[in-house]
Amino acid sequence: MDGLCVEACTRCSALVDSRSRIVNGSGPEDADILFVGEAPGQREDEQGEPFVGRSGSVLDDALRDVGLARADVRITNCVRCRPPENRDPSKAELANCRAYLDTEIKRVDPDLVVTLGKVPTEHLLDRSASVTKEAGEIEEVRFGDRPYRVLISVHPAATLYDRSQKETFESVIARAADIAGARDGETGQSNLGEF
Ligand code: URA
Repeated sequence: MDGLCVEACTRCSALVDSRSRIVNGSGPEDADILFVGEAPGQREDEQGEPFVGRSGSVLDDALRDVGLARADVRITNCVRCRPPENRDPSKAELANCRAYLDTEIKRVDPDLVVTLGKVPTEHLLDRSASVTKEAGEIEEVRFGDRPYRVLISVHPAATLYDRSQKETFESVIARAADIAGARDGETGQSNLGEF
């Protein structure tokens, strides 16, 4: 692994059997915002890219509404292989894939990490969470040797069956864009202390 791309991995036997390929993160290696989802679904497994199915369209639309494109942000998952029948990744699978995610966070070194849904929120905050209640909140979490801001979000798929989640999701994405846009153009320094 070069820090961003896992070429081969056989740590999770069930996922080795269920996946067609390893789905690595996509987007700029120096993105200001890193979105972290749960695990690839069928479309992601087919195409080898995170969030290219219906959830991805929801994310793309919300990004577009705030003047961002997919190409402006980095998108990855807690687990890089599709679980069988799209079940949640197990604790062991999350743990097996964690070093890849930590390395990606360190390499991208984003201003903001956005957790898309319950699984990545609980995984990265290392506590139980109610994402519907906590969406939009920011917590500081240490990954490796530095603290990062983590913005909690509902999963984009939640907006497909609950309209009220759509507003929540869009407001979180707007907050993420505000924060990323808070970079000082002259100095390049982040103004994240304001948030
Ligand atoms: N849901 C996720 O959590 N990740 C994806 O890549 C796609 C859907």
